[in-house]
Amino acid sequence: TYVVTDACIRCKYMDCVEVCPVDCFYEGDNMLVINPSECIDCGVCEPECPAEAILPDTEAGQEQWLELNATFSAQWPNITRARPAPADADSFKGVEGKYDKYFS
Ligand code: SF4
Ligand code: F3S
Repeated sequence: TYVVTDACIRCKYMDCVEVCPVDCFYEGDNMLVINPSECIDCGVCEPECPAEAILPDTEAGQEQWLELNATFSAQWPNITRARPAPADADSFKGVEGKYDKYFS
């Protein structure tokens, strides 16, 4: 599966949503997550994210994000259409430590 990492937090560009063939993105206040049991591993979302927030879970260190994606995709609503990113999205791009400061 692919996972959305903390790089998405407060960027939420949503380009990923438009390309997913199985509509497996779910929306929280500050980030999106992928439902790992619905993702078909096609990989098309990864290069679409301007924040480089999407990675395959086979990359080292992704366990935390896989767990977060699994947990919150079961709680948050499905999203299939992109809306505009937050007005201040670019100011959060590449910022470290967003999970501790801004995750909700
Ligand atoms: Fe959707 Fe493919 Fe991305 Fe999985 S890898 S979330 S199926 S676009
Ligand atoms: Fe987040 Fe990137 Fe999608 S910032 S909403 S994973 S395009």
